[in-house]
Amino acid sequence: MSNTNDTTDPAAKSMDGIMALCKRRGFIFPASEIYGGLNGFWDYGPLGAQLKKNLKDAWWQDNVLTPPDGPNGDPVSIVGLDSSIIQNPKVWEASGHVGGFNDPMVDCKESKRRYRADHLIALGAKGDSEGLIYCCVEGDEESVQRALKKLSKNKGTPVTIDDVDQCSFISLSAAEIGVSIGPDATKPGTLTEPRAFNLMFPTVVGATGDIETNKAYLRPETAQGIFINFKNVMDSTRVEPPFGIAQMGKAFRNEVTPRNFTFRSREFEQMEIEFFCAKESAPEWYAFWRDQRLAWWKSLGLTDANLQLREHNKDELAHYAKTGAGTCDIEYRFPFSAPGFGELEGVADRSDFDLTQHSKHSGAKLQYLDRTKGEIAKNGMPKGEWHTPNVIEPSAGADRGVLALLCEAYTPDPERPSKVFMKFAPRIAPIKAAVFPLVKKDGMPEIAGRLHQELRARFGMVETDPKQSIGKRYARMDEAGCPYCFTIDSDTLTNQTVTVRHRDTLAQDRVAIDQVADWLGERLGL
Ligand code: GAP
Repeated sequence: MSNTNDTTDPAAKSMDGIMALCKRRGFIFPASEIYGGLNGFWDYGPLGAQLKKNLKDAWWQDNVLTPPDGPNGDPVSIVGLDSSIIQNPKVWEASGHVGGFNDPMVDCKESKRRYRADHLIALGAKGDSEGLIYCCVEGDEESVQRALKKLSKNKGTPVTIDDVDQCSFISLSAAEIGVSIGPDATKPGTLTEPRAFNLMFPTVVGATGDIETNKAYLRPETAQGIFINFKNVMDSTRVEPPFGIAQMGKAFRNEVTPRNFTFRSREFEQMEIEFFCAKESAPEWYAFWRDQRLAWWKSLGLTDANLQLREHNKDELAHYAKTGAGTCDIEYRFPFSAPGFGELEGVADRSDFDLTQHSKHSGAKLQYLDRTKGEIAKNGMPKGEWHTPNVIEPSAGADRGVLALLCEAYTPDPERPSKVFMKFAPRIAPIKAAVFPLVKKDGMPEIAGRLHQELRARFGMVETDPKQSIGKRYARMDEAGCPYCFTIDSDTLTNQTVTVRHRDTLAQDRVAIDQVADWLGERLGL
């Protein structure tokens, strides 16, 4: 049960409220909105773009520029990359995306809607001799209730959740599919058998030639751009395994059922590290990255109670991770998944699968010389042996990260004028501070203007606003998640101090105007 007084409990937060605030304050807008939108695409407004940039900057800073020390206390080596979104289509044949990047799909002939088969569960009345089955969207309480209503109607007696058997859709036989009712249909037998649907967006490169020979794809993950540059990076830098290559950027998937706001979009950003290490040390590096990445999300303000690590079972493993040391998801308890969790980041030992595949398909040697192995030479040192490294991959979604930060920050508070405030950690808050003249006279706007310029030069996004009542200006900053507001008032004119208002406690105290920048720097850790 959710505790409605607990402001950190996602079940107590409404997704509609979060989406409305995102629109109202300029975090996230539906893409192409004035043309009716486009399902699965979102635009980040001024506050959202800054929030996402702060998240990506924090990731780059903490993983590429100053990564944590490794398992044995040695510094970890990570270099950055920014590869093309469109690559030679052979990349996606080698990676398995052309042949296998498929979701099993079912179509409903009545509603004309398409569903991911593995997102549907079937509810069938227990011991029902007619074997009547009803399908609904997995994890969606509302559709379970609708399903029960339809089952009751079909049977002519009330059916509750205790009266049904649940099974996953994919395991249904053709006969069972024939008597199942789609989530949005009225009659049984409208669903087709599951069919594979490739998630890559095709495109055409160049103005001449036929479409098939010039076909290319928008990348469905940033990872492959890293694998195909393994040799370039090794040849052009001094790195040797163990080391990582990090990249963030757009990825595109023609998701069948984009949903839950930005959680499952068709265009999204990933932040991925491919960490190359000797096969023997893969278990140690896998555990290292799993723990580091979980700790990193916590450092941005996601609370313990809303995060979990979930190790995958053997039968869940992706084709590339079958022989690896492990795969896990770092999951966040989003309001739409609560009390369950949704994936925020995956950490997988991809073994040597990708480099071996690209080596086979391209003919390039994608190996490293392990100088600790091989025959002993006359000088008493090993001659070295060529090996394909294992890859540990922490793969995070920037958009899901932003969504988790928004959900975590969203704090209903009936006592304040805004009724809600965004409790971002200062490091990722899009607006770091605001400077307000209490009134538009007595030189207050000029003093505010000078302080604003000083703070902006040091901290970046700092707001100033001379209009409206001070209460309304504070309310706007609460919804933007601005941690501190400085107000120039009549006391400033006599004793050169300003009022500072704390977002989380609503406390107000005074700071000398010439100390404001250092005071703020200390609190922001900047
Ligand atoms: N290279 C491995 C890989 O791409 P993935 O689990 O498919 O693995 C990694 O994706 C992360 O990318 C996910 O944990 C999620 O945060 C994000 N992601 C994947 N599909 C997404 C989508 N359709 N919309 C938003 N984020 C997505």
